[in-house]
Amino acid sequence: MLSNNSKFNLVQVKGTWVRQTERCQSAQGKLSDAKIYENKSDHGVCWTVVSPIVFTYRVIQSKNILDPKNDTLLWGHVGEEEEELKGTINNSKPVKRFVVIDETVNQLYGSQLIQYFESREVVYRMLPLPTTEENKCLELVTKILEEIHQFGIDRRSEPIIAIGGGVCLDVVGLAASLYRRRTPYIKVPTTLLSYVDASVGAKTGVNFAGGKNKLGSYVPPVATFLDRSFFQTLPPRQISNGMAEMLKMALMKHHGLFELLEAEGRKLLLSKLQSCESDSGVELEDSATASTRIAIETMLEELAPNLWEDDLDRLVDFGHLISPELEMTVLPTLLHGEAVNIDMSFMVYVAHQRGLLTADEKYRIIQCMLGLELPVWHQECTLPLVQKSLNERLKHSAGSLRMPLPTGLGRAEIFHDMIGDNVLCQAYQKWTAELASSGNK
Ligand SMILES: NC(=O)c1ccc[n+]([C@@H]2O[C@H](COP(=O)([O-])OP(=O)(O)OC[C@H]3O[C@@H](n4cnc5c(N)ncnc54)[C@H](O)[C@@H]3O)[C@@H](O)[C@H]2O)c1
Ligand SMILES: [Zn+2]
Repeated sequence: MLSNNSKFNLVQVKGTWVRQTERCQSAQGKLSDAKIYENKSDHGVCWTVVSPIVFTYRVIQSKNILDPKNDTLLWGHVGEEEEELKGTINNSKPVKRFVVIDETVNQLYGSQLIQYFESREVVYRMLPLPTTEENKCLELVTKILEEIHQFGIDRRSEPIIAIGGGVCLDVVGLAASLYRRRTPYIKVPTTLLSYVDASVGAKTGVNFAGGKNKLGSYVPPVATFLDRSFFQTLPPRQISNGMAEMLKMALMKHHGLFELLEAEGRKLLLSKLQSCESDSGVELEDSATASTRIAIETMLEELAPNLWEDDLDRLVDFGHLISPELEMTVLPTLLHGEAVNIDMSFMVYVAHQRGLLTADEKYRIIQCMLGLELPVWHQECTLPLVQKSLNERLKHSAGSLRMPLPTGLGRAEIFHDMIGDNVLCQAYQKWTAELASSGNK
């Protein structure tokens, strides 16, 4: 049997792409990162195309994003290298934006948004939707697509804007990834959970066939605009909910963030992570600014190299092994962050049982969780549910469990071995004995 392998680079010469082997570089021109591998056999040719796709997106903090003097909402996605484009767009035609906004957020901030657009002479269409977990399905996506189509947008220069919590951002993201195969979109998170989590990565999605986020895509927004002033209208429970994801990052990889949440957690809750203006004029980073910044930075570090989640070893999955099952079992009584926290609390006991955490470290973590007003135990989180979740997880993780566990305060490792039933049972018994009466749900 004959076999003949070749690797080709692609070079653009006078508008045409031509294949070139590394040895024979006859034509000069723009070199693509893509490669074509050719394998000839008796049966014919097999071409393998390797085409790296680069996603670039910006995550931008901004204060008072709905102030008409603030450019961010309209132009924050345009980088310095594209400033020219902004000028051209500005001069030749009116600025046009399609906005999907969570219904509650619309009640609270809709008039400010209208004022913003009117004062800047933007041609706009606002679509308020009940973007709740129960409604997070394809129908909502279709509704958005129909409205976008009717309004008409220029796919290249008029990004769709999503303003709301994680549900709104996920649903609009999916619609944008479908419209004309991929239309740029912008995320403006208004809950703490979506600010530190859903905003930072590339995932979009809706629930389907009884499964959470079963349909979706990995398409990042062109930009995310972060403005903490939206948190002022959030109920305290929603703040605690978001804090759980911040604590996750602290436990996995940032000792400083853990100490901040441990010492200042309550204060952060009460202030809804708002910064107080310093009268000294000296810009010192306060705990609200520092904690949210670190949460985002650590999250970006973990997501950027693994945007499509090809690597299954993910520290960001801490708290997400048992919680999906628990969330679906008790819907809608637990919020996502609360379920995540119950999962993390149990895993802290597992880590202690395996000798990875000292008793004092375990104690400090649980106290920190309680300080953030997060539940640390739940009666529906039974040992059979834990075992079922871990087995489910095993099925979908290429043969080994890949369990992130803390190995200190702000340090973690991913363990590939299945934990023995002994360790699991002992950890579960201690967890229940010590925390069942914690006063939380
Ligand atoms: N794509 C991702 O990477 C990712 C990451 C984490 C979570 N998620 C998804 O995010 C969703 C959870 O997001 P969430 O916790 O933001 O929930 P959510 O979107 O349901 O919002 C929570 C509630 O807060 C209200 N609300 C939003 N902003 C408000 C404001 N500023 N003031 C007052 N009320 C406000 C909403 O109307 C809603 O009732 C889940 O569906 C989850 O799957 C996605
Ligand atoms: Zn989560």
